[in-house]
Amino acid sequence: MTTGTNLSTAQHPLADRIRDLAHKRNAVILAHNYQLPDVQDVADFVGDSLGLSQEAARSNADVIVFCGVHFMAETASILCPDKTVLIPDLEAGCSLSDTLTAAQLKAWKERYPEAAVVTYVNTSAAVKALSDYCCTSSNAVKVVQSIPEDQPVLFGPDMFLGAFVARTTGRKNLHLWAGECHVHAAVRPEDVERAREAHPGADFLIHPECGCVTSCMVYLKDKDLKQENAFITSTEGMVRHVTASPKREFVVATETGILHRMKNVAPGKAFFPVSDAMECKYMKMITMEKLVRTLDQGVYEVKVPKDIAERARLPIERMVAIT
Ligand code: 13P
Ligand code: SF4
Repeated sequence: MTTGTNLSTAQHPLADRIRDLAHKRNAVILAHNYQLPDVQDVADFVGDSLGLSQEAARSNADVIVFCGVHFMAETASILCPDKTVLIPDLEAGCSLSDTLTAAQLKAWKERYPEAAVVTYVNTSAAVKALSDYCCTSSNAVKVVQSIPEDQPVLFGPDMFLGAFVARTTGRKNLHLWAGECHVHAAVRPEDVERAREAHPGADFLIHPECGCVTSCMVYLKDKDLKQENAFITSTEGMVRHVTASPKREFVVATETGILHRMKNVAPGKAFFPVSDAMECKYMKMITMEKLVRTLDQGVYEVKVPKDIAERARLPIERMVAIT
């Protein structure tokens, strides 16, 4: 199970109104791990990209309110063509998704016609429609491993996640797109060093989109950063880790919104961001006020054109099936 139900009591003055409206509309509220604390607290489910896609696919609600970024709502709309999918702010985009357009992918594929195309879920529906498989950070390795070893793979758009997959699978025929997320790419090995010195007994949780991932993997290989103390994993992998680990302190290298979720699921433990600057401005565009407007007025609907949705469904279904 990659999604978690909300464990804390909703305290925000608009929380009751939101729950009421959601009930009246038969709406389910899904919130990504990077959302503002109040939004996480009022949601029905909080989780990572994969878990929320799975939750959308299995939901019986008439309306899915996606508190996350645009590509996530598009994915939900493709998986649930008969449901209304709403996002509280249409401007909530993703800088990583913008680094690979459908035209760029088309041209890349023409250069490697025999290759399988694996794209990260952080892409537009038009890019997914040109892909053979989609993946998230929690199943990228397994998705690539499911492709015959002698078949070349085009992997995009995140180059750090791609480098992580290439090293983990040992695959030499993985071609990487040079895209990155501005929030994660900014994490440098020096940030990790500083945090290691400040919290020597802590476990290190590192998202594979981070700019430090390649050097951290080298550290891990050299046993400089002890294997038992460092974990490169998706946001929900991190949440699972802090719940299960006997450790009391964790240094977290991903968007800082996840610290709220961690405090909820593992009260009494201490969490330190590797850098306070790790904030995704797009994720933070979703506010409680906008959530009220969404439920009240039924805005903004995210609907993917039928021809694109039909072509994007298979790669997304493959992603949801591989956990
Ligand atoms: P997860 O797939 O780990 O939820 O990450 C999504 C994302 O946008 C990372 O920046
Ligand atoms: Fe996109 Fe980066 Fe924000 Fe994740 S943190 S939604 S990859 S911009």
